[in-house]
Amino acid sequence: MIDVRRDFPQLRRRIKGKPLVYLDSAATSLKPRQVIKKEQEYYTRYCANVFRGIYRTSEEATEEFENARTKVAAFIGAKESSEVIFTRNTSESINLVASSMKKTDEVVVTIMEHHSNFVPWQQLAKLKVWKLGEDGRLDIGELETLITRKTRLLAITAVSNVLGTISPIRHICRIVKKINPNCLVLVDAAQAAPHMKINVQDWGVDFVAFSSHKMLGPTGVGVLWGRRELLEQLPPYQYGGEMIKEVHVDRTIFADLPHKFEAGTPHIAGVIGLGAAVDYLQFLGMGAVRKHEIEITDYALNALKSVKGVTMYGPPHSKDRGGVIAFTLKGIHAHDIAQLLDEDNVCIRAGHHCAMPLHEYLKIPATARASFYVYTTRQDIDALVIGLEKIKKIFQ
Ligand code: ALA
Repeated sequence: MIDVRRDFPQLRRRIKGKPLVYLDSAATSLKPRQVIKKEQEYYTRYCANVFRGIYRTSEEATEEFENARTKVAAFIGAKESSEVIFTRNTSESINLVASSMKKTDEVVVTIMEHHSNFVPWQQLAKLKVWKLGEDGRLDIGELETLITRKTRLLAITAVSNVLGTISPIRHICRIVKKINPNCLVLVDAAQAAPHMKINVQDWGVDFVAFSSHKMLGPTGVGVLWGRRELLEQLPPYQYGGEMIKEVHVDRTIFADLPHKFEAGTPHIAGVIGLGAAVDYLQFLGMGAVRKHEIEITDYALNALKSVKGVTMYGPPHSKDRGGVIAFTLKGIHAHDIAQLLDEDNVCIRAGHHCAMPLHEYLKIPATARASFYVYTTRQDIDALVIGLEKIKKIFQ
């Protein structure tokens, strides 16, 4: 098991004398001191705008900013760093691509998409929805009936933020391209990039979106990766500073990639912090990160099984899922569970987790959700189980 807890200052903070049991990493991860220090370093040593200054401090900031881009590109196996666009978050990355779609386009989405990979397409295109099998996994056979010669795009999550279901992206992409080579595949990797090795080229997809804050990095920074030729064809998403080559009264010539999509001053400290988060994850090794999560998820699946009245959703085996478990407790609303656990400083999320279509499909109004990361221990899971047994007594 990975042992990194000393790197996470927030884990030392007690509330009412109780240690933090943080089981909400799918919402956002805690931050290691290495990331905090790197972000602080920008503000205390070389704070200046990027790309604009012809002085050493600005050049230093620009270099750190672009180093982060190179690190992210290597982390996801991108061909070149100019294919990596910095946005505000996964939602903005997806909206950027969706903004180029036409109303008449046919789009396929899965029923387990987060709203950020559902609503943007719903506004712009005709949705076809890919449902799940009994075991909470996608039925690959159904894909062949959904993708047609007319389908413009498949929007799919690599890991469900509710069920934890891992989608076999490479396999899916091959099927899609065989049926319709022009169908684009956009992957929401918000719950995948932080937790397992991903390789955008190996996947064979067209666009991948994820967020810094779920992978130990600062909030306010997202990533959109796209294949160069596609990004070149897309119109700019926003207009403004530093995304241009020339502006005249009657016309503007836009900058090359990636700057064409990065209008205005970016979240410089955040991007530099993301670079440090990538370093941290690379140091641990994504294989070790995934192994840790499989072990913790396995332990949690077994521990929760022992709590009478608990129903868990998603694939039964830890190898088929990410480090997230959504569950219900018979007769007790998910919000009550979260609120009562909080009294013991146990943090979980409750509700529809920005996946209302999935909850409607499962015919449940809400679930409680525990989610894990590199700092999660078996003791955290034990604290959750003790908390649930305590809640059951209250409601008896
Ligand atoms: N998308 C994040 C979650 O699932 C916020 O909780």
